[in-house]
Amino acid sequence: MARGGGSKRPAKADWSESATKKKQAGVSDMTLLSKITNDAINDNLKKRFHNADIYTYIGNVLISVNPFRDLGIYTPQVLKSYENKNRMEQPPHVYAIAEGAFRNMVSYRESQCVIISGESGAGKTEAAKKIMEYIAAVSGSGGAGSGISGIKDMVLATNPLLESFGCAKTLRNNNSSRHGKYLEIQFNAGGEPVGAIITNYLLEKNRVVGQIKNERNFHIFYQFAKAASQEYRDMFGVSGPESYLYTSAAGCLDVPNIDDAKDYADTIKAMNTIGITKDEQAGIHRMLATILWLGNVQFTEDDDGGSAITDPNITQFVAYLLEANQDMVSKALTKRTIETSRGGRRGSVYDVPLNTSQARAARDGLSKAIYGRLFDWIVARVNTAMQAREAASYIIGVLDIYGFEIFQSNSFEQLCINYVNEKLQQIFIELTLKAEQEEYVREQIRWTPIDYFNNKIVCDLIEAKRPPGVFAAMNDACATAHADPKAADNSLSQRLTICSTAASPVKHYAGDVTYTISGMTDKNKDQLLRDHLELCKSSGNQFLRTLFPEPLDQDSKKRPPTASDLIKGSANELVTKLMQSQPSYIRTIKPNENKSPSEFDDKRVLHQVKYLGLCENIRIRRAGFAYRQTFEKFVERFYLLSSATSYAGDYIWTGDAKSACVQIFKDTNIAAEEWQIGTTKAFIRHPETLWALENLRERYWHNMASRIQRAWRAHMAFKHTAARKIQRFWLGKKEALELLKVREKGHDLLGGRKERRRLSLISVRVFAGDYLGVNSSSAGGIGQLIRDAAGIGKEKVKFSSDIQCLVPRSMRSAIPMPRSLVVSGQYLYVLSAIVSQGLLQYSDLAMSPYQDGWTVIHLESQPDLVIECELKTELLTVLNAISNGRIKLQVNSTIEYKNKKLKPTQIKFVKNEQIKRPQFLKKTVQPTAISAARTNVQRTKPKPAVSVPARTNGNVQRQTSPPRQSQRDSPQQIMQQWNNQAAGSSNARASASPAPRQQAPRQQAPRRPRPPPPPPAAPGVPTPASWAWRRTVVYEILDKNPNGWWLGLRGGLEGWIPSNYLNPTPEPEAPAHQAAPPPPRPNMANGNSGGAHQGDNMARLAAALASRSASNIPARPGMNRFQQQQDDESDEEAWD
Ligand SMILES: Nc1ncnc2c1ncn2[C@@H]1O[C@H](COP(=O)(O)OP(=O)(O)OP(=O)(O)O)[C@@H](O)[C@H]1O
Ligand SMILES: [Mg+2]
Repeated sequence: MARGGGSKRPAKADWSESATKKKQAGVSDMTLLSKITNDAINDNLKKRFHNADIYTYIGNVLISVNPFRDLGIYTPQVLKSYENKNRMEQPPHVYAIAEGAFRNMVSYRESQCVIISGESGAGKTEAAKKIMEYIAAVSGSGGAGSGISGIKDMVLATNPLLESFGCAKTLRNNNSSRHGKYLEIQFNAGGEPVGAIITNYLLEKNRVVGQIKNERNFHIFYQFAKAASQEYRDMFGVSGPESYLYTSAAGCLDVPNIDDAKDYADTIKAMNTIGITKDEQAGIHRMLATILWLGNVQFTEDDDGGSAITDPNITQFVAYLLEANQDMVSKALTKRTIETSRGGRRGSVYDVPLNTSQARAARDGLSKAIYGRLFDWIVARVNTAMQAREAASYIIGVLDIYGFEIFQSNSFEQLCINYVNEKLQQIFIELTLKAEQEEYVREQIRWTPIDYFNNKIVCDLIEAKRPPGVFAAMNDACATAHADPKAADNSLSQRLTICSTAASPVKHYAGDVTYTISGMTDKNKDQLLRDHLELCKSSGNQFLRTLFPEPLDQDSKKRPPTASDLIKGSANELVTKLMQSQPSYIRTIKPNENKSPSEFDDKRVLHQVKYLGLCENIRIRRAGFAYRQTFEKFVERFYLLSSATSYAGDYIWTGDAKSACVQIFKDTNIAAEEWQIGTTKAFIRHPETLWALENLRERYWHNMASRIQRAWRAHMAFKHTAARKIQRFWLGKKEALELLKVREKGHDLLGGRKERRRLSLISVRVFAGDYLGVNSSSAGGIGQLIRDAAGIGKEKVKFSSDIQCLVPRSMRSAIPMPRSLVVSGQYLYVLSAIVSQGLLQYSDLAMSPYQDGWTVIHLESQPDLVIECELKTELLTVLNAISNGRIKLQVNSTIEYKNKKLKPTQIKFVKNEQIKRPQFLKKTVQPTAISAARTNVQRTKPKPAVSVPARTNGNVQRQTSPPRQSQRDSPQQIMQQWNNQAAGSSNARASASPAPRQQAPRQQAPRRPRPPPPPPAAPGVPTPASWAWRRTVVYEILDKNPNGWWLGLRGGLEGWIPSNYLNPTPEPEAPAHQAAPPPPRPNMANGNSGGAHQGDNMARLAAALASRSASNIPARPGMNRFQQQQDDESDEEAWD
């Protein structure tokens, strides 16, 4: 938290965790139990077991209860979720322990070890495998060819390989480790695995030659016998496991949930991964076959009390397998060579016959020796393969040792196994306490040490030299009575006054165990018989000879190390190694004896809780303080509980993390004796205090959650509204983009030949086409009127606009008159109040090169049209498009056209800088303005497409809609026509008219309510709702407000006009005097030839057009007519 000194700030608050975490049962860290009793621990573990939470912490110690089922908690996703996470951030898991060990190694540059303890079947081996998998997954992979992934593969492959050769089915565990294993993964300075070493402890060799009922030999024998390749079967005479006494005598050939054939394939695969050659594999299999066949050698008593081999064929085959002399094999099994010595000198050598039980012991001894050596060879071979590729800087060790064992009859093996477990328990106690002590000293915290059971006394009882412990007594007994095992056992019995064959158990930390002395000394001696060594060394098989490398003639004066010497030595070596690393602990618990996934045997678990010393563990952990956390982490968790350290997008505390902790404690009113501040960590004495803080935090989150929910709902409402707005805008924009393309096309057609008005070039007006809304579908609208009157029918209108049309007059020169121009797919329509010219077949266009809007449309067999159209470029574009490019533009300052008598006439255009707006002068010379006449360059919209602003529920203003797509040719259609034209397609026109988009007819926007009359104080200033009035314009007055503003109607639109600018127009003559409009020309497009209906249409059109016309208003009965004062000559009806 400290800002100064460049120290890292805590990560920002993460709200996502609560959504993903599963609800945990009980407490996940038992240091937070309010009552520390074995029962409370048992209850907590039980609750969690039934909730499928098999892992629980005591501080940094992981308690793991075997679930006996697949919980799906070892997936790659789960693995990933623990990567780079603090132990407290995720629920307890074996991956968290592995993560902690790996990150500590990388961060603090210290070797680590994980000590896994617990009784047989509690889950040690499974935990060890998960740790290896985790480390392999998260540790670096090195560059190509670095061999790091090869090392990882080999480390993982050691599991199936050593399980096959070192595990067996026992009554307690179907995959019981019958040896201890310490795997050290070596890492370089960058935290990449570069090698590994396995140290192997005390293989239970006795299992090779016999097992108790319903147990099995090592898995490999069943795998081999069941699934060996045909080649091996032929070469080594292998058949099913039922054929061999060593595998069948205990009456268990198969194990539920173990597939020997599949496991055999995994074993072979592992051998290949590790790099064990085919020859070496053959050697291994030869040894396995030899042991199986040796077990089938039976003896009968011969006449001299010695033993004879029942079936010499078997020894012959054994000799074949050993590649040794058959006689030598028989002799090694039935006789024993004894050499006398006198005064340190070698004496005579005798062959002593063995009785049948001795012969069986000799046979079994040879089998055990071969298997023991084979196992050691495999471990050594694996170590060679995994040798570090580069200098190793650190290690992570994983200790998976056989669990504490109590049988009905406990012998030398159980003593050794329990001794090693005793040593581990001692390390655990010492290191745990030591670490705790060191932490308090380091953090300068006062604390009171707590008493704990130190099992050193039991370790001393077994291993001490003086007074002699059990191992020393055993060695002495072996030395004094070396020739006779029974005498040696008796000697041991006398030495051990505390033990006897009958009672006096050893009080181990995990329970009292009574050991049987009979046979102990012999097992302790574990001496390889000279005959057996001779036999193996005489073998022609290279592999067998490598298993027995020692010289035949050893110095007989030096006592070879006994088995107890070896186990004591390796246990102490192990302790030294473990002490050099930072330990992590996993204490496994077996919930029941039946391998049941649902049974939680309270009695059994309580027993384990007791002997594992979990209570003491918690007490030690809580000796001073139940909870400790680094300042930064503490602040990260509880910053919200103080307004001074709170959060506003970022932490607001500007001091260091230590003072923030003090602030939080003070602001939460935690009693001073309940907390202490160390040098790097904050300590809380009782768990209740921590819970109080947690509760405060929980409540804060709850309140915050409600606020966030409210804010979120408001945000979502706004978001949806805004999204709708964007959608509307985008739809319009998309359409507009296409329209702009049409506009660009128009510019291209002009081809730089005509001067453009400045604002035409920089404007963003799009070509919307139907400005009069002729395509509008609203019934009774002007569009409908024009359509009906002109007989346009259903044909789509491409362009419509108001224009000025040069109208010839009788005896006088032509003048421009307002008209409406409509362009359909085939025809031009020029409409006035009276439709006098329709269905014009046009051929070409001509324009001046200047900025004027005059355009000559050359017609076929008719006088040409001379019009002024402000949207001339668009008109050109449309005509060009619908004629498939046939319509060409001529640009010339002198344009010739056919006048009403079809005689050629010329108009000459000249530039005149004096004039500001275009005019049409009499004669044929037209001066053209230079500056832009139009100032409004906004996008022109068709007149009918007026919509009212509407408020949405999200307070977002809706804009006026763009012209309806359905009311005009879509820009895509126009573009398509051009494309077709470019492609020269003859049927381009037909294909250029896709079916109109299906759109629901849009509801007519509601009429805008009339604006209130403007304030009388500003009569002369037109308000935005008033007309920008023009001279000589006629309005229909709808309402006269006494404040002087009248409501006028023109061109279908209403507006407020100052009344003092208006003059009444004379009342029109009666309709009877009005000349009837001439009948329309026959409609060549749709064959509509008029009639009464057509006459009606004409009348309505006349009225509608007149209402839009600036100067030509037909009379309507009762209509108030007012006209602006005009100084121009009044317009005449000029069409003849
Ligand atoms: N975490 C686990 N999830 C699922 N099943 C498990 C788990 N741990 C152990 N088991 C089951 O329990 C069996 C015994 O576990 P494991 O072999 O690890 O015991 P162990 O403590 O190594 O015993 P031993 O001391 O006899 O070697 C496993 O074969 C497996 O079926
Ligand atoms: Mg195991």
